Amino acid sequence: MPPADQVLALVRPDILALTAYSSARKESKGGRVWLDANENPQTPSAAKPLLNRYPEPQPADLVAQLATLYDVAPAQVLVTRGSDEGIDLLLRTFCRAGQDAILITPPTYGMYVVAATIQGARTVTVPLIREQNFALDAAAVLQAVTPAVKLVFLCSPNNPTGGRLDRAAVLSLVRALVGRAVIVVDEAYVDFSGQPSLTAEIPANPNLVVLRTLSKAYGLAGARVGTTIADPAVITVLQKVIAPYPIPAPVQIAALAALTPAGLTAARNSVATISAERARLAVALPKLPAVKRVWPSDANYLLVEVTDAARAMTAGRAAGVIWRDRSKDVSNCIRITVGSAEENNATLEVLSSL
Ligand SMILES: Cc1ncc(COP(=O)(O)O)c(C=O)c1O
Repeated sequence: MPPADQVLALVRPDILALTAYSSARKESKGGRVWLDANENPQTPSAAKPLLNRYPEPQPADLVAQLATLYDVAPAQVLVTRGSDEGIDLLLRTFCRAGQDAILITPPTYGMYVVAATIQGARTVTVPLIREQNFALDAAAVLQAVTPAVKLVFLCSPNNPTGGRLDRAAVLSLVRALVGRAVIVVDEAYVDFSGQPSLTAEIPANPNLVVLRTLSKAYGLAGARVGTTIADPAVITVLQKVIAPYPIPAPVQIAALAALTPAGLTAARNSVATISAERARLAVALPKLPAVKRVWPSDANYLLVEVTDAARAMTAGRAAGVIWRDRSKDVSNCIRITVGSAEENNATLEVLSSL
């Protein structure tokens, strides 16, 4: 079976058979008098673009810019409302309710299990190895992939632990699971790692899907722009499931502005500043009596073990400094986002008062 067909064999049969909704903007481009989408000829706002018109389902110029940014072909790109929507689309495309499952490696990003639960899919868990800086237990993952498991979510760098997963171990899993499962590598934070993305491996491995986002390094969390990068055959199926007009016109403009040469330089500078601040915090935090351990991070946050997480959170809140309590996942750990120098000083000040 050709490799792309092997991954299509994992798609829900009813989705494969589904005739996708064909929107007006998909069916016809160009023309002078647009009377095909029941739009209003007028709009209350004079701002461009005129918002009385539906946006392009997948804006061609944004797809092209994102393909360039991620060094992939436009046919490998699906633009989504944040990478959270990519996670949801994958669940709905590959997992049959009441039958199929996903595999996750906790502690990890919480949306995988939420999207699975909403879809009615089970979640199989194979914990990361805490004693090895939360390394991937590839052998245990391989063993846990039953025929029900259609998607394996790997987050690298991992949220909330901060470290990246071993590239060779991830790729060995991808290869071992050909025809059995799709490996989804969530690279929301890869821009902060200085490491190459796994996107270059997709052409040789159609069962590999990579999630990227403009929410973190590009500072556009409020615009909601994620990218699912996959084999073109997978993208075509995901396009059946995504809403007809997911990318609002103002969002397209904001994203394109972030991808101009000036926007890209700003993002690079922002990543450099955040990385330097991360290094400063990684040195300063362990010197504080309330801090027991700071996990190595390739992301824009640090997982910090404190003597008493509840007490630290209370002190933070009292000072108006909000971190994320992750002690349910990793005991007495809080996740601290690397902010501006001033914000990071506030973190140090509160923790040093404990
Ligand atoms: C690992 C991970 N993946 C995905 C997301 C969602 O990002 P987006 O804003 O692109 O939906 C987040 C957000 O915090 C995240 O931590």
